[in-house]
Amino acid sequence: MYRSHTCGELRMADVNKEVTLSGWVQTVRKFGAITFIDLRDRYGITQLLFGESLQNELDANPLGREFVLQAKGNVNERSNKNLNIATGEIEIVVSEFKILNKSAVPPFKIEDDTDGGDDLRMKYRYLDLRRNAVKKNLELRYAVGRSTRNYLHENNFMDIETPFLIKSTPEGARDFVVPSRMNPGQFYALPQSPQTFKQLLMVSGYDRYYQIVKCFRDEDLRADRQPEFTQIDCEMSFVEQEDILNMFEGLVKRIFKDVKNIDYTEKVERMSWEEAMWQFGNDKPDIRFGMKINNLVFDKSLFPNKQAVLDEEMFAIPPLGGGGATVLAIAVPGCSEYTRKQTDEITEWVKRPQIGMKGLVFIKCNADGTFKSSVDKFYNEEKLKVIADATNAGAGDLILILAGAEERTRKAISELRLEMGKRLGFRKDNEFKLLWVMDFPLFEYAEEDNRWVARHHPFTSPKPDHIEVMINNNPVIENAAEYLKHPYAAIKANAYDMVLNGNEIGGGSIRIFQRELQEKMFAALGMDEAEQQHKFGFLLGAFEYGAPPHGGLAFGFDRLCSILGGSESIRDFIAFPKNNSGRDVMLDAPSTIDAKQFDELQIKLDLKTPNA
Ligand code: AMO
Repeated sequence: MYRSHTCGELRMADVNKEVTLSGWVQTVRKFGAITFIDLRDRYGITQLLFGESLQNELDANPLGREFVLQAKGNVNERSNKNLNIATGEIEIVVSEFKILNKSAVPPFKIEDDTDGGDDLRMKYRYLDLRRNAVKKNLELRYAVGRSTRNYLHENNFMDIETPFLIKSTPEGARDFVVPSRMNPGQFYALPQSPQTFKQLLMVSGYDRYYQIVKCFRDEDLRADRQPEFTQIDCEMSFVEQEDILNMFEGLVKRIFKDVKNIDYTEKVERMSWEEAMWQFGNDKPDIRFGMKINNLVFDKSLFPNKQAVLDEEMFAIPPLGGGGATVLAIAVPGCSEYTRKQTDEITEWVKRPQIGMKGLVFIKCNADGTFKSSVDKFYNEEKLKVIADATNAGAGDLILILAGAEERTRKAISELRLEMGKRLGFRKDNEFKLLWVMDFPLFEYAEEDNRWVARHHPFTSPKPDHIEVMINNNPVIENAAEYLKHPYAAIKANAYDMVLNGNEIGGGSIRIFQRELQEKMFAALGMDEAEQQHKFGFLLGAFEYGAPPHGGLAFGFDRLCSILGGSESIRDFIAFPKNNSGRDVMLDAPSTIDAKQFDELQIKLDLKTPNA
């Protein structure tokens, strides 16, 4: 028997019991004739006391950090209690011990505050995983998974596995491909998601499907993106959008309760995509705080139905773009007393290449009702007041204004809003705000090919009253400069994203389930009949055999975990993640393969850039 208890288990009630523990040596502290050792396992840390009688044996078998040790002894009340840890009132007075395995000196400290850098910890990830902080993240991940499975099981969902070696499923990224030995010259693609399989399962009658499943996407990586990541993938038959929103709102609320003990009782807010872009500058707004964007002047060709807050003439003055440009403003509460240094610093912030603005205009709304601005030369008090009113700024606020080309300016002000929100403490890790963003455009314009691409994916259905527009209009874009005037630009999708604290944690749609409409959709995306048949013949075929109306969504499991855990990086919540270049530095993968493997695959390597 290696152990009678774990290192996190013993309490005052166990005093005088004889126990055996096994674990890793965290620290060795020698005080004259006695030695204290902190022994650690997954469950906690217990102090071991080696008395005088064991010192010779200890000297003959010196213990080092991360040695695997078995110790037998009696539970004793500690004289010097440590109330910060659960086992801190007791210690084990060791009677005998055995070194089960030695350890090399670890390359970094296996403690909460480690001295190991990111790369080092990833290289020795199996040691990093011993650290409490990482362990807590994996425990949270496990709890989210368990809560998800319970909820979905209670609601009649069935977990069904789908294959990994498949044909390409377009989700907007590049595929990872796998050569087939038995079919030389042919390749499988790894699924970007199980999208078409879950739809086929609906055709097969499994009306509530789910899977916590790996997805593979060859795309540029960021803190919230990994090349292989996990989705909570779900699909339902005989449902409308409202049924899906309710079901999965329920899932996230259940996870909040089970994992964080948070009663998220209020209804999840909803916002149209257009409203999100207009008021927050992006399609995944953080609504934990206001500071909404005010559209003082904007590109009318992009928003023909919107009314500008201010007359363009007011902005025909150089600092604000000289008219015609987009001019967007936020009112930052309580910051009118920012010093020159502070406003300079924000100006530098928006000039960084990632944000890419030329400059920033600010107006301080003083407590006495006067204004002080960076454009005093051009605008008198009266004009400044007009702007202040237009941005809903009150006394004490600081108005920040950006001007430039529509897309860049909107993106920049959205980033600036988030940055100011963070600086002012409006974005707390332990405060959670969910949001459904809905009514996305069905299509996006792809400038390089002058054609439409699916904004979500090609299986998403248009809103019922937009189907006619799609059927009755030719998708060809005659005039690229005026693509926004094409009827397709206005078609809205039956699609929805769930947003948590400014992160897209999930997305889905009601699907097309009739063959004709699906063919029309593929055609709109520029696929001729032969290509449709080659890529999606199986799905079009299935739609001929009684496909039910259906829809679903997928949550980004890693993302959901990282937000619940208060971290921006999903890597912290994945046991063996890849770095930002898509490498597993522990395995040193990807790597070359043997000549024999190439031979078997009948592949000859002829890299275009051999040294890349
Ligand atoms: P979508 O592509 O929106 O939808 O993906 C669903 C969710 O998965 C997460 N996600 C990622 N997480 C980590 N790394 C990545 N590279 C990554 N890419 C996406 C996001 C996203 O919201 N088949 C559809 C779903 C459906 O229509 O049912 C799909 O995959 O949190």
